[in-house]
Amino acid sequence: MIFWKPELVGKPLPAIITAQAAYLPEKVLSNSDLEKMVDTSDEWIVTRTGIKERRLADPDEYASCMGAKAAQKCLAKANFDPSNIDAIICATMTPDYITPSTAALIQSTIGATSACCIDIQAACSGFLYGLAIAKGWVESGQFKNVLLIASEKNSAFVDYKDRNTCVLFGDGSGACLVQSAGSGYEIRHIRLGADGCESRLISIPAGGSRNPASQDSFSEGQHYMKMDGKEVFKHAVRRMEMSTKECLEAAGLKQSDISWLIPHQANIRIIDALANRFDIPYEKVFRTIHKYGNTSSATVLIALAELDEEHPPQPGQHLLLTAFGAGLTWGSSLLTKV
Ligand code: ACO
Repeated sequence: MIFWKPELVGKPLPAIITAQAAYLPEKVLSNSDLEKMVDTSDEWIVTRTGIKERRLADPDEYASCMGAKAAQKCLAKANFDPSNIDAIICATMTPDYITPSTAALIQSTIGATSACCIDIQAACSGFLYGLAIAKGWVESGQFKNVLLIASEKNSAFVDYKDRNTCVLFGDGSGACLVQSAGSGYEIRHIRLGADGCESRLISIPAGGSRNPASQDSFSEGQHYMKMDGKEVFKHAVRRMEMSTKECLEAAGLKQSDISWLIPHQANIRIIDALANRFDIPYEKVFRTIHKYGNTSSATVLIALAELDEEHPPQPGQHLLLTAFGAGLTWGSSLLTKV
C-alpha cells in the first residue's frame, strides 16, 4: 500500500519506533556444552568474549520463523493489525533461502497482506541499515507503517568443529514498528559506512554465484562462516567509535547527553574498548552478550527491546546505537524517547 500526500513533500514527517520486541529460542548452548564439542574451556570463552551461553533454534525453526515470532510479539504490544503494515524489511545474513526473501515468508506467516517485502544484507549492521531505509520511507511519506525485523539462525552457518567461530554466535530475532506518529523512540540521526576492500575478513565462501554448492565446497566446509577474528576486532572498535562520534556531532549532542549506549554484542572486549573511548558510565552501556552471544543483525534490536522493558527510558532521553559486521559494514543511530 502506498501512502503519499503531495502536500507533505519537503516537510519530513518524524520516524518513530512505536513498539519493539525480541524472540530468543528456548534451547541454551552453554560453554560447558561447547567444551564437549571442541577443544575450548568456559574460562577461555568468558575471558576472551564475555559469553556464557547462547540460544539455538530448533532444526525446523528458521530465520523466518524467529522473525515472525518477534514480529507477532511487537504487533501485539502495539495492538496493530498486520493487514495495515505497508512494508516489511528483514535484515538477515542467514535467510531461509537465497530467494524468496525472508521478509516475504514472514509476511505470509503474520498475515501482512498489504505489505511489500524486502531483505537487506549488511551482516551485523543490518538492523541499522534497515532503520535508515525505514526512516527514509516514513519521513518521506512513502509508507506510514513499516515493520523492521532482524532475524538470524547463525547456527545453520557455524561449523561446530571450528573453535574460532562456534563459541561466538547464537540465534535470535527482534522486530520493531516504525511509524510517523505515536510515542516511542524517534529516529533522529543515522550514520552508515562500509569498506568492501576488507570483505575477506568475514565471509561464507560458498553457496553463492562465485562458488556454488558442490561436493568439493561441501567437503571443504566452505558453507560455514570464516573470520579473521583479530583483524575484525581492531576494525570493530575503530569503526564503531568513529560512527557514533559522527552521529553525535550530527545531532549536536555531547557524550554526556547520552543516557544509554547500545553497541553490537560481538565480544565483551570490543564493548569495553568502545566504552573506554566514551564519557559514558559503564553501567549505561547495555549488554546482553553474556546470555545470547552474537546474534548478528539482531543484537542491537534485541538489546533495545530488553532495555525498554527492564529500564524504560524517560521522554527526552537519548540512546546511541552502533553496530559493525561483515562487508565490512558499520552504522550508528541516535534515538530520542518521545
Ligand atoms: N577456545 C580455546 N582457544 C581458542 C578458541 C577457543 N574457542 N578460539 C581460538 N583459540 C585459540 C587460537 O587458536 C589461538 O591459539 P594459538 O595462539 O595457539 O594459535 C589463541 O586462542 C588466541 O587466539 P586469538 O585469535 O589471538 O584470540 P583473540 O584474543 O583475538 O580472541 C576472538 C579471538 C574471540 C575471535 C576475537 O578476536 C574476536 O572477538 N574478534 C572479533 C569477532 C567479531 O567481532 N565479529 C563480529 C563480526 S561478526 C559478523 O559480522 C558476522
